Amino acid sequence: MRRLFISFEGGEGAGKSTQMQMLYSFLAARGFDVVSVRDPGTTNVSEKIRNILKDKATGDISARVEALLYFAARAQMVDEIVRPALDEGKVVITDRFAHSTYVYQGYAGGMDVGNLAQINDFATKGFLPNLTFYLQISPENGLKRKAAQQDLDRIEAKGLEYHKQISAGYDKIAADDESGRIITIDATLPAEEIHNKIVSHIEKILI
Ligand code: TMP
Repeated sequence: MRRLFISFEGGEGAGKSTQMQMLYSFLAARGFDVVSVRDPGTTNVSEKIRNILKDKATGDISARVEALLYFAARAQMVDEIVRPALDEGKVVITDRFAHSTYVYQGYAGGMDVGNLAQINDFATKGFLPNLTFYLQISPENGLKRKAAQQDLDRIEAKGLEYHKQISAGYDKIAADDESGRIITIDATLPAEEIHNKIVSHIEKILI
């Protein structure tokens, strides 16, 4: 079977976690050995970095430093978990990956996306998901969903204008994609319907 590394992307409140769980159960029931990860996070070091990034007590950090922390967390996750799992023939699904950096630190944070892609290449040794599901939601809707679930963390609390830039950034990446690896799905559809769409795309590459 070919290597299968799938990422989920989207703004806050897009429902990535629900879809990750549904896909995990679907693939496991089909007999695949599935590894589920989240970026930033999953390894010991990456979870510590995640805490720094998410904690309101961290205060302001420069966009450059923030980006480097995300890359460091990702590098460790790829080296320690993702690459070995794929080498063993497992399927890996990740909650966020490089596109998040291009959108949050690039389009919304003002950093040059080309530069970010170069550093990402260094951090991951050119490692890319072979399929990305972008769950598309308006920033108003997404933030409303998040705020209803929990207190907003350092990033979620950045305000509507920032989250509008994130939405626009994802839309741009999806529109510019020529690889056919980014699939945009309307995140306001019922969870089951979204899941069925995701599965239909995965089945195409599993054949
Ligand atoms: P989440 O996994 O709960 O969505 O939290 C991760 C947060 O980190 C989310 O607000 C998006 C942000 N993020 C970046 O800003 N850059 C990145 O490269 C990644 C992976 C996440």
